[in-house]
Amino acid sequence: MDRILIRGGRRLAGRIPVSGAKNAALTLMPCALLTDEPLTLRNLPRLADVDGFGHLLNQLGVSTMVEGAHPADFGRVMTMRAQRLTSTIAPYDIVRKMRASILVLGPLVARAGEATVSLPGGCAIGNRPIDLHLKALEAMGAEIELTAGYVKAVAPGGRLPGGRYTFPVVSVGATENAVMAAVLARGTTVLENAAREPEIVDLCNCLLAMGASITGIGTETLTIDGVDRLHGATYRVMPDRIEAGSYACAAAITGGSLELVGANAGDMRATLAALSEAGVKVEERRDAILIEASNGLAPLNLSTAPYPGFATDMQAQFMAMLTKAEGTSVLTETIFENRYMHVPELARMGADIQVTGRSALVRGVTPLIGAPVMATDLRASMSLIIAGLAAEGETEVNRVYHLDRGYERLEEKLQAVGADIERVGG
Ligand code: EPZ
Repeated sequence: MDRILIRGGRRLAGRIPVSGAKNAALTLMPCALLTDEPLTLRNLPRLADVDGFGHLLNQLGVSTMVEGAHPADFGRVMTMRAQRLTSTIAPYDIVRKMRASILVLGPLVARAGEATVSLPGGCAIGNRPIDLHLKALEAMGAEIELTAGYVKAVAPGGRLPGGRYTFPVVSVGATENAVMAAVLARGTTVLENAAREPEIVDLCNCLLAMGASITGIGTETLTIDGVDRLHGATYRVMPDRIEAGSYACAAAITGGSLELVGANAGDMRATLAALSEAGVKVEERRDAILIEASNGLAPLNLSTAPYPGFATDMQAQFMAMLTKAEGTSVLTETIFENRYMHVPELARMGADIQVTGRSALVRGVTPLIGAPVMATDLRASMSLIIAGLAAEGETEVNRVYHLDRGYERLEEKLQAVGADIERVGG
């Protein structure tokens, strides 16, 4: 099992290319199911989850072809074609490894009139049910049955009528599934209190390129007029706002200066505002965001929230950074019930963090000492990398397969800006 070794204390400086967004790619890929024509995605990141989703699509009868990157992109080009589906079942052994597999539910019901998807089960950051996905589909006319760990959704007569649904809580995945189910419905669907994440805007824009009819994009009310069919398209995946924010925290904690090339500042206003409040210089340039941290960090009081609020996917990375702030910070995690798995590991490095309920008190400035630590989930792993970059001595991060799910070529990108970091196998 690969490990990553970091010898900390180096100031990062230089340019880091920002890859295509994992959480956009994972909702754009299932759009291939919605048409029998080719869907080509540009700027796809090289990530384990993207490869995993490609295998799932293959199991459903979708052909996938990967080519090199377009000159203007960092990521690969993948052309997918669901000329005819050979299955409408997403099996347990795939879904249990990647929760995002649930995102084939909506498009399969839309294209084939039915879908059978294994229940995802819990994961490290919470039990993460799919009840809102199912309630949205039911509101659109789907019949849902749960048997033996699988959920089966059927469109009576083969095509959903459409409907209206108000989400009781904001859910990114449930909004994505509902939108993909609605685009081929017989009638109109209105989704209220829908998630507004940039990845959902990317999904809607790709669906528009395929011939869908959606209004309210970027707002909490989406109106989708079903059409009879969608056609193929070529669409460029948006840059990864969480990867960019993660490297910004790495610059901040090392007192460094990084240009995040290809990042879209418009997608990460809350992250950039928090960095500025901490005393980090943020400068938006034509093709990059400059992050400069030269004179210490101020403590912050941050609460995660659905977009455009402060992203839950940035909480762990900020926590690592704030161990270097001159004072006590308070982080409150409002989205997931167990997203503090990084705290005990950061504590092993000397961090002084007290978790009470949903809030964590982070006392700074605490000297971080390198240590062997364990990655538990994707963003927790990145917080350990960020801490290791500033720690005295060597940090060994184990179970880096978590990292490989969401950070493309992490050690290469960090080596290129001065980090003493390497991956060791075995
Ligand atoms: C997406 O997960 C992201 N994953 C997550 O990123 C991200 O943390 C999350 O949205 C919130 O922004 C992908 O896009 C692949 P939710 P998702 O449905 O869709 C509850 C990362 O690190 N809920 O918005 O699963 C749920 O338990 C990953 O890149 C229900 O109760 O998140 C959670 O408390 C981690 N019932 C809250 O809603 C449901 O049916 C938000 O979950 C669905 C969700």
